[in-house]
Amino acid sequence: MKIAVAGAGYVGLVTGVVFADLGNEVICVDIDPAKVDAINKGRAPIYEPGLDEMLQRNLEEGRLRATTDLAAAVRESEVIFITVGTPPTENGEPDLKYVDEVARVIGESLNGYKIIVNKSTVPVGTGDRVRRIIEQYRREPHEFDVVSNPEFLREGSAVHDTLYPERIVIGTDNPRAAMKIVELYAPLERPMLITNLPTAEVIKYASNTFLALKISYINAIADLCERVGADVVQVAKAMGYDSRIGPHFLQAGLGFGGSCFPKDVKAFAHSVERYGLDPTLYQTILAINDARPRQFVQRISERLGGLQGKTIGLLGLAFKPNTDDIREARSIEIIRYLLQEGAAVRAYDPVAMPNMQALYPHITYCRNAYEVAEGADALALVTEWNEFKQLNFERIKSLMRQPNLFDGRNLYDPQRMRKLGFYYYGVGRGEANQHENGL
Ligand code: UGA
Repeated sequence: MKIAVAGAGYVGLVTGVVFADLGNEVICVDIDPAKVDAINKGRAPIYEPGLDEMLQRNLEEGRLRATTDLAAAVRESEVIFITVGTPPTENGEPDLKYVDEVARVIGESLNGYKIIVNKSTVPVGTGDRVRRIIEQYRREPHEFDVVSNPEFLREGSAVHDTLYPERIVIGTDNPRAAMKIVELYAPLERPMLITNLPTAEVIKYASNTFLALKISYINAIADLCERVGADVVQVAKAMGYDSRIGPHFLQAGLGFGGSCFPKDVKAFAHSVERYGLDPTLYQTILAINDARPRQFVQRISERLGGLQGKTIGLLGLAFKPNTDDIREARSIEIIRYLLQEGAAVRAYDPVAMPNMQALYPHITYCRNAYEVAEGADALALVTEWNEFKQLNFERIKSLMRQPNLFDGRNLYDPQRMRKLGFYYYGVGRGEANQHENGL
């Protein structure tokens, strides 16, 4: 099949590369010439395991190319994916200007029947909006269909998630369009659901909001655990054995960041309000999450008797492991509070440091975890990268000014850390925090 993918961000590029790998002819389109150039040279402009290799293979075999010329790509393709960004506006509603612009160009370039598939996360009703824009700008009465096909891939495992999705949702009122998209995904042999357009649009937001709800829920439980001397890790484990609850997304800690959950929950709250419904549930998910970094810094400050003149080392900056993405990363807020209260910050992340340097050029960036520990009054684990799991903590301790360990992701065994001579704080680990530190 001939496919154009408009927007070569995370979703677009990975989708394009995977479809090419399945044997389709794919044109990736982006307005940024530097991105297009990098893709055509076989270098993905984002860090994603396995992506570069797959990109290079498909470029070499001639199934993939990138361009800035959307109109030409539309004319050559039967299926056009819209995977552009929908950044939040001031009030948290998604800005649809890029979606609108792509729809306009598609309308102007329509030269035969085409299927326009929306993969960007967009508010309910956007499919209709895209349809109206294309109708408004089309120069000849060619037919077209609009499909909503939400994306569920996670950053850091985007290629894997695209190859092995747990479900594929295809939302459209026209069976002809649905069958064409089914055909495109058929080689993956995964469960497919065909729905109407608004149903598919709701599925995306309902799924992300529910996952965010699980995280905020366990974080609220974590706060209670700290007060009553309970251990949230064990609470979550026991809850997770109940198959109706499940073990996933119940890791208490610093809360959720990234380009999806914070933005999507906010957008969903706005949407339900616009339809005359009560947004309190969604606002509460955000409020619990927003409080996490402040609370974490507060714990460090309490332990150290204030942060003025203290040195705090941060392990990890990315919003989660295996990505260089720092959008809405908890580290941003943590650094802001630490600096506000007069602390000096040292930090290390395996890949996200260049991104953070643009935001905070004046904190100290280190080459590894040990360098971060040098002279630190406290070490805070912010992102649970694999390489932080097996550190030599004896060495870390010997490098620090004071052996205080604040585990924002509950990565370490509290007993072991205490035995090594650390003061250990884990989020929601009331039992460990109270007894094992001899408090
Ligand atoms: C999320 C969804 O998981 C994907 O299914 C969806 O396609 C994507 O958003 C999207 O809408 O594009 P992503 O933002 O890449 O994917 O990251 P997640 O792995 O879901 O993690 C999000 C945040 O939640 C991270 O900051 C992570 O540290 C945090 N988290 C996750 C927790 O604090 N606790 C948990 O138990 C799980």
